[in-house]
Amino acid sequence: MASAAPLNIVALISGDGSNLQVLLDNIAGGVLSARVAAVISDQSQAFGLQRAARAKVPALVVERRSYPSVAAFQTALLRQVEAFTPELVVLAGFMQILPARFIARFAGRVMNIHPSLLPKFKGLNTHQRALNAGETRHGASVHWVTAELDGGPIIAQAEVGITPADTAETLRQRVLAQEHRIYSRAIQRFAQNRRAACAQTMPMPMSPSSP
Ligand code: GRF
Repeated sequence: MASAAPLNIVALISGDGSNLQVLLDNIAGGVLSARVAAVISDQSQAFGLQRAARAKVPALVVERRSYPSVAAFQTALLRQVEAFTPELVVLAGFMQILPARFIARFAGRVMNIHPSLLPKFKGLNTHQRALNAGETRHGASVHWVTAELDGGPIIAQAEVGITPADTAETLRQRVLAQEHRIYSRAIQRFAQNRRAACAQTMPMPMSPSSP
C-alpha cells in the first residue's frame, strides 16, 4: 500500500522567501502533499523566516559569522538539516554553495530553483545577462543539485518572452511568477513518484494462512 504521509521537506532560504510562501500556501491549500519540517536561513534578517513563523513552521538561523570557519558553518548547517530527517531538501533562494559532503549526504534529494533557462546563465545576475546577450526567451529551471553549480539534471522549466521594453527588474518579476508555478509542481511530482516507488517495492500482502 502506498504511503499517505506528506513529503517531509526542509527548506533553505537567504531572503524574501516568495517561493517558500507558495509552497506553504499550496500545502495549506491541499495542492502539495508535503510538510515543511523546518526553514533554515543563513541570514537572520531574511523575510522568509517571518513567513515560516506565520505558518507555524520552525524557523532557524545558521549564519556563517557565528562559526570560526566555513567548514564549521557547513557542518552546523548539515547537522541542522539532518535533525529534521528530510526526504527532500528544497533550496528556495539559498545563496550559499553547498559543500560536496552535504550533496553526498542527500544525494538526489536536493532541489533548486534557478532564474534562467539552464544550461544558460548559471550563477548570478541572470536577468541582466540574458538582456545583455540579446536573448528573446528567458525563464526558470528546477533542477537537482549536484557538485556542479547550477549544473544538475533539469526537472522542469518555464519560459517567458523578452520584449524590448524589458529591464532586469521586469524580467525578474515575470520569471519569479513562473518559478512559483513550476517549483511546487515539481515537488508534488516528486512526492507522488516517491509514493509510486514505495508502492512498487512493498511486498504483496500475504494471504491469510489456513487454520
Ligand atoms: C529566485 O529568483 C530563485 O530563482 C533564486 O533566488 C530567488 C529567490 O526568491 N535562486 P525568493 O526568496 O523565493 O522570493
